[in-house]
This record gives sequence, C-alpha cells and structure tokens, in this order.
Amino acid sequence: MDKMRIRGGKTLSGTVQASGSKNAALPILISSLLSEGACNFSRVPNLQDIRTTLKLLEQMGVKVQNDLQKNRVCLEAKTVSQFEAPYDLVRTMRASVVVLGPLLARFGKAKVSLPGGCAIGARPINYHLTGLEKLGAQIELEGGYVIASAKRLQGARVAFEFPSVGATENVMMAAALAKGESILENCAREPEIIDLAGALRAMGAEIEGEGTEEIRIQGKDKLGGCDYPIMGDRIEAGTFLAGALMTGGAVRVEGLASTHLEAVLVKFEEAGAKIVRGDQFIELQSQGRAKALDITTQPFPGFPTDMQAQFMAIMAVADGASVVTETIFENRFMHVPELARLGADITVRGNTAMIRGQAKLIGAPLMATDLRASASLILGGLAAQGETVVNRIYHLDRGYERMEEKLSTLGADIERIS
Ligand code: UD1
Repeated sequence: MDKMRIRGGKTLSGTVQASGSKNAALPILISSLLSEGACNFSRVPNLQDIRTTLKLLEQMGVKVQNDLQKNRVCLEAKTVSQFEAPYDLVRTMRASVVVLGPLLARFGKAKVSLPGGCAIGARPINYHLTGLEKLGAQIELEGGYVIASAKRLQGARVAFEFPSVGATENVMMAAALAKGESILENCAREPEIIDLAGALRAMGAEIEGEGTEEIRIQGKDKLGGCDYPIMGDRIEAGTFLAGALMTGGAVRVEGLASTHLEAVLVKFEEAGAKIVRGDQFIELQSQGRAKALDITTQPFPGFPTDMQAQFMAIMAVADGASVVTETIFENRFMHVPELARLGADITVRGNTAMIRGQAKLIGAPLMATDLRASASLILGGLAAQGETVVNRIYHLDRGYERMEEKLSTLGADIERIS
C-alpha cells in the first residue's frame, strides 16, 4: 500500500494547473449511456474513481477508448447488454448510483446496489428514487438492490426536499430522454451541475436554468455524440491554495473559474491572505500566519463540505480559536484525531469542532480515512516540522491527480513510497 512521506516546513510557491474535476467527470462519463453516438471527453482526470467508472461502463457493454494518460476518453453506448451496477463497485464509489437515471430513461430498466454507509455518513439515495418515481419509474428494493423499470419516462415537476448534487444529476439525466417537459425545483446549484448540463446540451439535450434552483428540460427522443472538455477541479485548486496559506507562500492555480470557489476565497481573505481572482486562474499570496476564522458548510454557493477538512488544517496553525460547523455530512470529522497526532488542538461536539491554533505542528505517522481527510493530512504534514508519513494514500488517489508531483513543482518536499 502506497504512503506519502513529507518533510514539512517548505514554502509553496509558483504556478500549477488544475486537473479536470473528478466530481464533474463522473456523472458526465456516465451520461454517455444516454447517447447513441460517440462521446469524446477531454480533460478527464486520470484517477482511481474515473478508472472504476470506465470499468463499470465497459461491463455494461459501452465501447470504451481509454486514453487517460492524455486525459481523453471516447465512450460509445450504441448497445448496452448489462443494466446493473453491482454492490462491490457501488460500495467503493457511491457516485455510480447515477447510472440509474440514464439506464432507465434509455433502456427502461436498471439494477443498482444501495450504497450503504460510507466513512463520512449514512448517505441514502431517497431523493434520487423519489425524483425518478415522479418521472414514472417503478422502483422496488430487493436484496440490497434498487430494481427500477419504466416504459418511457414522462416529463414531470420534481421538487427536491434538499438540493442534493447526486439526485439533481440523476433526475436531470433521466429527464433529458423523458417524454415532454420536466421542471426540477430546489436543485443543487454546484458548478458540476452546470458542467453536466453543458455535456448533455452538447449531445443535443434541451436544458435551461442549470446553476439556479429551477432547471427546465424538454425531453428528446434521442441524444447524439459530443466533444466536451471537463471543467477544472475547484476542490483540488482550493487544496493547493490552502497549502500556500499554511506555508507562508504564494501560489497561482490556472485552469478554473474563480467564481466556482468564491465562498472559499472569501474565507482565505478572512484568514488574512491576498487573493487575485481571474477568469481562468486564482492566486493566493500569504501575508503571514493565518488568522482564526469560522466556517459553516452549506450547499453551493455556500462553503463546500469538500473543503472543510483542508480548512481545519489551516485553523490548526492559525492565530486564535476557530469553529467549524459541518451541516452536510454527519460524520465528517475523521481527520480530527489524525491532525491531533501532529499537535493540533481540536474539540468536537456533535457537528461542531473548535480548533485552537498552534504556533507549530510536529510531523508524525498518520492514517488517511477518506478522500478530503487525506488532503488535510497532507496539508498538515506540509506545515509541520520534521517528517510526516501519511498511510493509506489510496484514498487520496481517488480524487487527486499526481498530487505529489504537483506539490513538488511548488517546492514541497514530498514523495510517494510504494
Ligand atoms: C456530492 C459530491 C461530494 C460532495 C457532496 C456535497 C460527487 C461525486 N460527490 O456527493 O464530493 O461532498 O456532493 O457537495 O459529486 N442525501 C440524502 N438522500 C439522498 C441524497 C442525499 O439524505 O437521496 C443527503 C446525504 O446523505 C448528505 C446530503 O444529502 O448528507 C448531501 O448529499 P449530496 O448533495 O447528494 O451529495 P453527493 O451527491 O452524494
């Protein structure tokens, strides 16, 4: 099992390119199930979760031309022979439940394992299922699986109880091939939703309103091929900027819109950093030790839960006491005991954590527990004195492309140990 060894205390500075967004790429690759043509996607990040998605699509009968080394993939779902996402796969990558909508809409059937619990919380899929039922799907639960069927999905009004990212994506894809108009209300407004709408539109779908609470879709009988570049990864970008702040450096991340990260940039400023916002870049210049600050995670445009762990690492070395309130996932403080091993002073009560910033952290062996937790441990290691070894780095490999290489370019002393 790979580990990451970091010798901390180096200042991060320079320019780095954002990879394509993992969370945008996953549903976009899956949306190829809706299309009868060849879908060419570029800027696809070369990550474990992406390789898992390609394996799933291939098992279903999709023709996959994988050129991930060059961040390109061509998917052709002329025919599909398997309509199932098995437990072993959904368990490792719950985003695969979004195959439900496209399979149902195009082929009228799908069998998808219930994801079960995951490290950061229960994460049920009830909003996905209720939304698909509104479009006319018959849904049964049997043996841990969702078994869904439909003749032809019918456009309908779907009001989400909560703006779930995955549920919005699932129902949006289904509605693209349903008969007639669908109006989705209380939708997630994340940039990844806008990117999925862009990909569907490139295939010929008729969608408007993405990025707002209400999305309107005129269902089509067929969708065709497309050429589509995936947007830049805002969470990866935010992680590098956090590293610059914690090490007293200056980093410019290129290849993403600064508006996608606005709630985070405001918090970097509150911590005392100088931010330069560009159309396709963001720059952070540290102005000395970070000041304490409070964050509350919210659906977009609020502060993203996927940046919470990284901000806790900043707060661990900030001047003063900070408070984190996590409102999206109920168990997303797994990084706390690991950061404590570096000397962080953190008290957790329910969904709130109080962090008393320390003048210094000292390197230690650590264990990664989930994707964003791993990123916060890497950040802790970069700021700590001495050596930190982060074990179980496969969590990091699910979502960060060549992280050690990119951090080395910025001046970090980090290496992967196989
Ligand atoms: C996506 C992102 C994830 C991010 C999250 C919130 C991907 C692949 N993953 O996950 O990185 O942290 O958005 O921004 O894009 N919920 C239900 N019932 C449902 C659906 C969700 O109760 O049917 C709950 C979840 O348990 C969670 C909350 O709603 O507490 C938010 O979940 P959701 O927005 O659906 O997140 P994901 O799409 O799973």
